[in-house]
Amino acid sequence: MLSKIRSVINGYRRNLGGLRSARTIQELRKWFASDVGTPSGFGFNGDVIRTRIVADLFNSVGCTAFIETGTYRAATTVLAKRLLNCKVFSCELSLKSWLFSTIRCLPYSELFIFRADSRSFLRRMGKHLGPEEIPFIYLDAHWYSDLPLQEELDYVATTWAKCVVLVDDYKVPDRPGFKFDRYGDDELCIERFFIDPKNAISGAVTFFPNYDPELETGARCGYVIFICGTQHRLHSDARRFPLNLLRRFD
Ligand SMILES: C[S@@+](CC[C@H](N)C(=O)[O-])C[C@H]1O[C@@H](n2cnc3c(N)ncnc32)[C@H](O)[C@@H]1O
Repeated sequence: MLSKIRSVINGYRRNLGGLRSARTIQELRKWFASDVGTPSGFGFNGDVIRTRIVADLFNSVGCTAFIETGTYRAATTVLAKRLLNCKVFSCELSLKSWLFSTIRCLPYSELFIFRADSRSFLRRMGKHLGPEEIPFIYLDAHWYSDLPLQEELDYVATTWAKCVVLVDDYKVPDRPGFKFDRYGDDELCIERFFIDPKNAISGAVTFFPNYDPELETGARCGYVIFICGTQHRLHSDARRFPLNLLRRFD
């Protein structure tokens, strides 16, 4: 623990030049004062049905690690660690968010937050995790005009034979109550960003939430799930939770 704290403090000192204004430091202070342990710090957008679906899919597919792109304040990072009790890896571009999250996550072992662009981070994960690993990959690094999403999906599909991928803030067809992100003329939607089963090492099946968003407890954001390489299981499990709350999209 001590050496972990020391290395974070060294990282902070090395990066101080990046925290240019007193305002940034003040904001960072406010986040520390207000966010830790409050409901706004709840992961998976505070949506409990989604949280339950993630946990059940993780276990039924036999996932071994949780990989997140876009840490922000580590709300999902922390919840994934506590809920799934596995190795957790996350990445963040913003210095302020990375510092906040790294310090917030100090109490957890086998939880790593990289200050990196999501594309290079995923490449690093591809080399770091052995072929026996089945990652649950939570893609949430969409905020700026440079959108890494399709490159992330292409890389994941051609790197892991077996994995589960969830893209946050995604448009759910025929369910307008779920919120989703727009970037200029682009929407996060199935017509624009997807895993083509033909490109995935061992195929991919697409699922959308199939329940009333009003039942959700948090931000009610839409999402899509791609399951790669475990199709045989999906047929037998289709009528059971959590797949009975999802709609297969062919
Ligand atoms: C929607 S927030 C993530 C929220 C977080 N996953 C959670 O559930 O609490 C998006 C984060 O992604 C970061 N981000 C945006 N583009 C990125 C990129 N290319 N690589 C890494 N992080 C990125 C932003 O700085 C921001 O903190």
